[in-house]
Amino acid sequence: MNQWVNSVGSEGERKNSMSRREFLAISAAGIVGLAVGYFAGRATAPVKEVVKPQTVTQTKTETTTATTTATATETLERTVTTTETETTTVEKEVLKAYERVKIANIRDLSVGKPLQISYMGRPIVVLKLGEPAQGGVGPDNDIVAFSTLCTHMGGGLFYDPSNKALVCPLHYSVFDPARGGMVVVGHATEYLPQVILEYDENTGDIYAVGFNRLVYGVESNL
Ligand code: FES
Repeated sequence: MNQWVNSVGSEGERKNSMSRREFLAISAAGIVGLAVGYFAGRATAPVKEVVKPQTVTQTKTETTTATTTATATETLERTVTTTETETTTVEKEVLKAYERVKIANIRDLSVGKPLQISYMGRPIVVLKLGEPAQGGVGPDNDIVAFSTLCTHMGGGLFYDPSNKALVCPLHYSVFDPARGGMVVVGHATEYLPQVILEYDENTGDIYAVGFNRLVYGVESNL
């Protein structure tokens, strides 16, 4: 710099020294030349291919999954319905009793005229014998009643007023109503079932209240 300043001031030295313009021109030309040479060299220089090493990573993944599931499920449903029925029979004693039934009034009866009726479903006959009888009721204790089924084989009895007896038309068994139905004649061997009577002195009503024996042909009189 000082060189350029000094050259301005000195005319003599101006000739020996390179002017600033010249210097710049020369420098620029040099730079351009270098640049041209550089690019020209690059254009003509052989291109070297740089092959970068390649790393090939090959990953082979092989997955084999074999799953065998064997499930054997056997469900056996069995519905068993068992019904047990237990029947218990409880025998409850039922008290049965003869019925007290009005069967006649003393005004309905006369000696020698039997009254054929039924008591608890059994045919009976009511008799006024005209003399005291076993089990007789009424003012003279002569009113009695009996089953009319023969104790031999169930024949239907009729009353014989002349003999004051109950007679079976089948085999001619004879029963005495004055003596509690005792067998007088015949095949029968058992007394006639006698009806138990009650007498109401105020009204003259006669009530049957039961049998004293089992009526022929039944297991129970009730
Ligand atoms: S059924 Fe009356 S005697 Fe035989």
